[in-house]
Amino acid sequence: MSNNLITGIDIGSSHIKAISVIKTDKSSVFEVMAKTSRPSRGVRKGVIENPEEISMVIMECIKEIELQTNERVDGVYVNINGTHIKSFLSKGLVSVSRADQRISPEDIERVVEQAKAPPMSRNKEIIDAFPIEYIIDGVGDIKNPLDIYGVRFESKVVIIEGRSQFLKNVSQSVLGAEIEINDIIIGSLASSRAVLTSDEKERGVAVVDIGAQTTSLSVFEEGVLIYTAIFPVGSVNITNDIAIGLKIDIETAERIKLGFGSCSLGGKKIEKINVLGSDEKISFSRNTLKKIINPRVLELFDFIREDLKKISKNELLPSGIVITGGGSQFPGISDLVKKELNLPCRIGAPLGFNPPIKEPNFTVCCGLVLLADDHKDDQSCGFFKKITDKIKNFFKPLIP
Ligand SMILES: Nc1ncnc2c1ncn2[C@@H]1O[C@H](COP(=O)(O)OP(=O)(O)OP(=O)(O)O)[C@@H](O)[C@H]1O
Ligand SMILES: [Mg+2]
Repeated sequence: MSNNLITGIDIGSSHIKAISVIKTDKSSVFEVMAKTSRPSRGVRKGVIENPEEISMVIMECIKEIELQTNERVDGVYVNINGTHIKSFLSKGLVSVSRADQRISPEDIERVVEQAKAPPMSRNKEIIDAFPIEYIIDGVGDIKNPLDIYGVRFESKVVIIEGRSQFLKNVSQSVLGAEIEINDIIIGSLASSRAVLTSDEKERGVAVVDIGAQTTSLSVFEEGVLIYTAIFPVGSVNITNDIAIGLKIDIETAERIKLGFGSCSLGGKKIEKINVLGSDEKISFSRNTLKKIINPRVLELFDFIREDLKKISKNELLPSGIVITGGGSQFPGISDLVKKELNLPCRIGAPLGFNPPIKEPNFTVCCGLVLLADDHKDDQSCGFFKKITDKIKNFFKPLIP
């Protein structure tokens, strides 16, 4: 990196967002140097289908960032999204290697690597891995095993995998814009990093990022990620429901959603809006709109509840649900979700930026630069760096 800029790019289904920040060692706040957003092309349900088209949009975003910062952007942190991303629990087992039976950093690395070698289909890749627990001679719940004495050393690791082809498409899109990739990070992980406090992560919390065509869920307990999943529904489904319900075109439905959409504000007052490019007016009441929006929001959170049940966390997250993403902006959504899931619920905006970032659709971008900064000094036991190298090696043939 030739300057101190950290740049994150979120390749979304509706928009590509980019942010560039600087953080001095003395400050705990990230100075926002540039921020931009462009309509996306060639992304379906979070997955890049047309890397060439995305490269063009990334190029436009980078040009804008360079204009705003007056600096060159050499490398970026970029997200990966899509329902192909799955998390599962894996276990590793090794014998402690040193003669004095004290666990060394190399043993920790080996026992985690062991867990990362489960049988996986050939078209999948491990994107990230998070050790959640170590077990030494049958004694579990150990978070830091370094220097503890033992013989039989086990690990429990949450593995996140995704389809190799879709990882390749992310890499191709960025490299096609003639920008280096510093790392590829799962969007749901980035969102969580941006909106959660460490206390919430410690106590147990779920982050739900409602995008245009996808919604991601990530669950944390005792400070670590224990589960993530991506659902193929998002705020676009609400636009479609409004279009069908009011018998109007998609563009008008989107304008109505953005202008009047709410999970709480009802009322019989008739609102009127012009159909795009004509004199025709559409009339609707807030009540009617609410009756279209709320069932879809509730359906979305039914998926979340079912997944929380699957991992035995339904109604068992003390810090509740944090909602973010462009689709989190309906007034009253947090109260609706609170009632539906019987858990505390708040809207999450990125924390620690100056000027503050208020738009929840920038959450992933913010999380990318925060994670980049968290791991900038990782050398030895850093998972992140190793994963980065692995991804870089994987994509070497594509790097010009
Ligand atoms: N004020 C608002 N109220 C409700 N929805 C909104 C509002 N503003 C934007 N949205 C919706 O948010 C969505 C875009 O959010 P976001 O930028 O987070 O999605 P994305 O990252 O492009 O998509 P995905 O994550 O699914 O790939 C759009 O569908 C848009 O209609
Ligand atoms: Mg998104």
